[in-house]
Amino acid sequence: MVRHMFSNLLLLWSISHDLYITGLTYHVPKEKSWNNQNLFSVPLDLDVRLRRLDLSNNFIRQLHTLALPYLEQLDLSSNQLDLISEGAFENLARLEELNVSRNVLSNNVGSNGKALQSISRLKSLDISMNGLSDDAVELYLRNKSSLDQLKMTGNALTRLSHNLFKESKGLRAITIDDNQISVIEQGTFEPLSQLETLNLAKNNLAHICDFKLHQVKYLNLSQNSVEFFVTREDDQLYRLEILDLSHNKLLYFPIVPKMNNLKYLHLQNNLVGALNSEATMVSEANALYHEIINEKTVRKNNLHSRWRLMPLIYIDLSYNHFRSFPLETLSHLLSLETLNFSYNCLQNITWNVRNDESGYRRQLLFPSLKYLDLQSNGLVYISPLFLTALTQIETLNLQDNSVQPCASMDQSTPQINLNTSCVVFGQLMTLKHLNLKENNIKMLQPNTFLKTSLVSLNLARNSHMGMQVGSLEGVQKTLQSLIISEINMTSSDLSLPCMPVLTQLNVSNNCLDVIPSTLSCSPLREIDIRNNHFASLNHSLFLALSVRLNLMYISGNYFNCCDSKWLTTLHEVKGQLPDVSDTVCFTSDSNIAMTEYLKNPSVYCLFHTKAQEIHFGTVIIIVLFVAVILTVFIIFTRKVCCTQRSFIV
Ligand SMILES: *[C@@H]1O[C@H](CO)[C@@H](O)[C@H](O)[C@H]1NC(C)=O
Ligand SMILES: *[C@@H]1O[C@H](CO)[C@@H](O)[C@H](O)[C@H]1NC(C)=O
Ligand SMILES: *[C@@H]1O[C@H](CO)[C@@H](O)[C@H](O)[C@H]1NC(C)=O
Ligand SMILES: *[C@@H]1O[C@H](CO)[C@@H](O)[C@H](O)[C@H]1NC(C)=O
Ligand SMILES: *[C@@H]1O[C@H](CO)[C@@H](O)[C@H](O)[C@H]1NC(C)=O
Ligand SMILES: *[C@@H]1O[C@H](CO)[C@@H](O)[C@H](O)[C@H]1NC(C)=O
Ligand SMILES: *[C@@H]1O[C@H](CO)[C@@H](O)[C@H](O)[C@H]1NC(C)=O
Ligand SMILES: *[C@@H]1O[C@H](CO)[C@@H](O)[C@H](O)[C@H]1NC(C)=O
Ligand SMILES: *[C@@H]1O[C@H](CO)[C@@H](O)[C@H](O)[C@H]1NC(C)=O
Repeated sequence: MVRHMFSNLLLLWSISHDLYITGLTYHVPKEKSWNNQNLFSVPLDLDVRLRRLDLSNNFIRQLHTLALPYLEQLDLSSNQLDLISEGAFENLARLEELNVSRNVLSNNVGSNGKALQSISRLKSLDISMNGLSDDAVELYLRNKSSLDQLKMTGNALTRLSHNLFKESKGLRAITIDDNQISVIEQGTFEPLSQLETLNLAKNNLAHICDFKLHQVKYLNLSQNSVEFFVTREDDQLYRLEILDLSHNKLLYFPIVPKMNNLKYLHLQNNLVGALNSEATMVSEANALYHEIINEKTVRKNNLHSRWRLMPLIYIDLSYNHFRSFPLETLSHLLSLETLNFSYNCLQNITWNVRNDESGYRRQLLFPSLKYLDLQSNGLVYISPLFLTALTQIETLNLQDNSVQPCASMDQSTPQINLNTSCVVFGQLMTLKHLNLKENNIKMLQPNTFLKTSLVSLNLARNSHMGMQVGSLEGVQKTLQSLIISEINMTSSDLSLPCMPVLTQLNVSNNCLDVIPSTLSCSPLREIDIRNNHFASLNHSLFLALSVRLNLMYISGNYFNCCDSKWLTTLHEVKGQLPDVSDTVCFTSDSNIAMTEYLKNPSVYCLFHTKAQEIHFGTVIIIVLFVAVILTVFIIFTRKVCCTQRSFIV
């Protein structure tokens, strides 16, 4: 981005420079970079026409008066600056962006303050990483009526007072992450009517009792110690779109403004769900709300009434403490498309929905949910009623659980059997991507995915999984990517149907020695057969595949060098074999690197195989000959014996 701007500026410069030479223009846009030049002071003979000056990454300690009337951007970041003389900026009438991050401006606060107060047209100021205290910052921010962006990352702020921004009320973006702020006085941010982006991540904030910033669109409170987030009910429209409360100590869902624009809510790495049930959590959150706002009379469900109006499309609840799925709360989010519920402790998703007032079972749905991540939850059971509620689901990640897929439901009884402990995937008609890696699946039944339109399926690391014939029935025409690696499967366990759109196949880390010939149906582009027991591959199959194949991983097998016509075919065509140099093959008397062999196949095989064939052939003929003689002899002697015996009888 910067580089891009830089080259644009250069281009602009060279154009105007030409104009200048032909005498058409007087003021030349120009820039100069002294980045990382071991400078101990500002160079003296600077071109007065400069618009951008980069002095970052040097050892400059003091800044005295600069006379650069056209200068707009000054970068002094990463120096040792601790003294800016009072009049340093007086002749920088056009300065708009100043970067003094990574210096020592906690020294000489009086003088530096006067210098910084003299540039009221500044639009962007970066004073990060200067060890600044509350008082120093308050001084530095005076007389900044044009300031639009302010960065104060990594200082020593502890308390934000209502005086802090009183002379910089035009601020649109404020970043004060990585300080030690534990108190924000009322009236600090409220008067900043343009404020859209506020980053307070990595501080010590514990309670957000009364969120009032209806102008803010982006609020980052990640990595504080926030225990609850509460907004009083009012009729103002809040512009909040992105709220990050991740890595805190939340026990409950936040109570958001009644009328809001929230689209992205980050709640990962908190303690939500640690309380027993969803009902308990909801009632405690509401009780807390009433306590905070001192409202004793009305006992309505504030949490849910707020959530119902939230246009959320993304929520991250990973790494919380849920032991049951908060069905009712989440089903209020009618626009929700992505739900990350990974790394909780669900075990079971049951359908405990309370009946409505008239005693009817309510039909809850997740009508927009497309992406559901349930990885690493110890899941054993998922109610079919829950799956039916996912009417738009496209991607389902169940990696690292213990679910056993059911065979497809009996066609004649469409009634869902609620008693089964297996999981019925066959009804998810919109499902495209299913990850069942690491579930300890025992057996893949026929028709497991019937009626879905799966595009990708991951069955990796279900060691000892069996696949019955027909288990991919119904998806063989849609499947484009199939992963069946790390299963310890032998070729006789693996039966694949003809899959006419399959482009990626991963069968690595198994015990396969034969490639299913049904793959000739598939327009494979990528195949991984690493770490199996292949000694050779079907030459005519790979000749056919080689037209499209452009990536094939083969190492970790024990190939016969002298039976590798398939390899020469692939090598000659355009096939990419990224790990061919890690592949070994054997000849009659040694193991050699595949690449070595490919350099000159005839040296290793032609002679050896012929000699071996003759030698081997002779042995076989001799053995056969001896065997025939012996058999004839035995039959003959037995006959003699028998006839003798019958003589006796
Ligand atoms: C200031 O410079 C630092 C690098 O020294 C950079 O990371 C930061 O983004 C700059 N600040 C602004 C507002 O561009
Ligand atoms: C504020 O900045 C203006 C120039 O933009 C200057 O004239 C004025 O003296 C400054 N005020 C203070 C208190 O420094
Ligand atoms: C919030 O800040 C944290 C810490 O700097 C960062 O990792 C995270 O990406 C930010 N969140 C959003 C939504 O930008
Ligand atoms: C869900 O969260 C986990 C853990 O934080 C992360 O690894 C994963 O990428 C997330 N998934 C999505 C879809 O954001
Ligand atoms: C989950 O369900 C199984 C059987 O349906 C049951 O044995 C187990 O106790 C349940 N686990 C939890 C945590 O409810
Ligand atoms: C489910 O199990 C219960 C008892 O465990 C039984 O009464 C009921 O008939 C079963 N329902 C079905 C549909 O199999
Ligand atoms: C699968 O095979 C590998 C190598 O043969 C072995 O190390 C691993 O223990 C096997 N896995 C299981 C679950 O048996
Ligand atoms: C195939 O699966 C294995 C895990 O078993 C993984 O390490 C490998 O990267 C996958 N291959 C490709 C091409 O993605
Ligand atoms: C090799 O693959 C072809 C399909 O391309 C198949 O007809 C043939 O039976 C296969 N040969 C062996 C030995 O599996």
